Amino acid sequence: MAKQLWNKGFEPDQLIENFTVGKDRELDLRLARYDVQGSMAHIKMLESIGLLTKDELNILLPALQDIADSIERGEFTIEDGVEDVHSQVEFLLTAKLGDVGKKIHSGRSRNDQVLVDLKLFFRDELKRISEAIERLFTRLQQLSEEHRDKLMPGYTHLQVAMPSSFGLWFGAYAESLTDDMQMVVAAYNIANQNPLGSAAGYGSSFPLDREMTTRLLGFANPHYNVVAAQMSRGKTERAVASAIAAVASTLGHLAMDVCMWMCNNFGFVKFPDELTTGSSIMPHKKNPDVFEIMRGKCNRLQSLPNELTILTANLPLGYNRDLQLMKDIVFPATTELIECLDMADFMLAHIKIKDNILDDPRYDYIFTVEDVNRLVLQGVPFRDAYKQVGMSVQDGSYKPTREVHHTHLGSIGNPANSQILAKMQALLKLMA
Ligand code: ARG
Repeated sequence: MAKQLWNKGFEPDQLIENFTVGKDRELDLRLARYDVQGSMAHIKMLESIGLLTKDELNILLPALQDIADSIERGEFTIEDGVEDVHSQVEFLLTAKLGDVGKKIHSGRSRNDQVLVDLKLFFRDELKRISEAIERLFTRLQQLSEEHRDKLMPGYTHLQVAMPSSFGLWFGAYAESLTDDMQMVVAAYNIANQNPLGSAAGYGSSFPLDREMTTRLLGFANPHYNVVAAQMSRGKTERAVASAIAAVASTLGHLAMDVCMWMCNNFGFVKFPDELTTGSSIMPHKKNPDVFEIMRGKCNRLQSLPNELTILTANLPLGYNRDLQLMKDIVFPATTELIECLDMADFMLAHIKIKDNILDDPRYDYIFTVEDVNRLVLQGVPFRDAYKQVGMSVQDGSYKPTREVHHTHLGSIGNPANSQILAKMQALLKLMA
């Protein structure tokens, strides 16, 4: 039995249906609660402009609430033959209530319906992402304070360069996450606008009260121009993807550092045995597979904006079915990013840092700039001091003093963790 909302008496070919519905029956389940929320706001508005009676509204709202409850209980499914979540909700209402169920779609289209669902969904997902960022941020700041005085080599060109510290290393990733939070906040603000009332993308001849649905759904403002509202399908996803890619780039970099510091040639950090993985042939192995998988996942997540750009490049103005495929790309990505953030937090709770790393003579040259600066403070011009230390390195007589005194803002002795915390807190407030 054909179950399309648009059925006009002929059976669509099964192959065509499977091909066009794609993964919607599974992916749309994540939109279900938002779809009902959108419909509730829409019918309240329809009643306010006289397109539904109070009695009809009072029949429809509890029936929608029943569907919302079944979604929260995990009992809601999209039946075979039903195209998507929007159709399923309308069919359930009509099956239960008869003709009054058929009235809810006045003045709307699945095009603005899916847009509303997506905006509400992305708002929540971005909040979940920001909470996961906050958890990892807090962990990194704690570790930065705890290991503030533990020195490590700093590298440039992957050659030993200058003293650094675990306080700086952990703190750097915390601050880097504040930059990513800016992207999350920007994506949130783009998602937080109401497209409802744009209908198929060109509005409606009914006097829809779009300010009312904006209020009811808690959006910051309407996406005013109905064409712009439809254009935000794609734009919103690309903003979300850019935020995800930004966080993934920070996290992937952190994962790479951990893999390197765990390498036996460095040996700066360790994890308890049960958090490492083994080899089927080499009995001694304790591998960093967690951070390798994290690095790989984060690298893939960084391709998201590119995938979406290519999928949507040069589409004609207005709704096109290609847009549906963005769900396949973005939906799994939000979950994957949160899993990676939480896994990083879990692993870092167990990290062990090696003490006195810089006592190893292989890092002696780490101190050359410290020694140049000491001479400068004694009155030697910088270039002469540089030459003096450089010559001692050259002829093999260099002996490091091993004294590190960095006091300026953001340096080893003053990593500015409280200022960085203030930046993060100000951004988190914008998501509240
Ligand atoms: N599943 C569709 C999507 O995600 C819903 C909108 C369908 N609209 C249409 N005109 N066929 O885009």
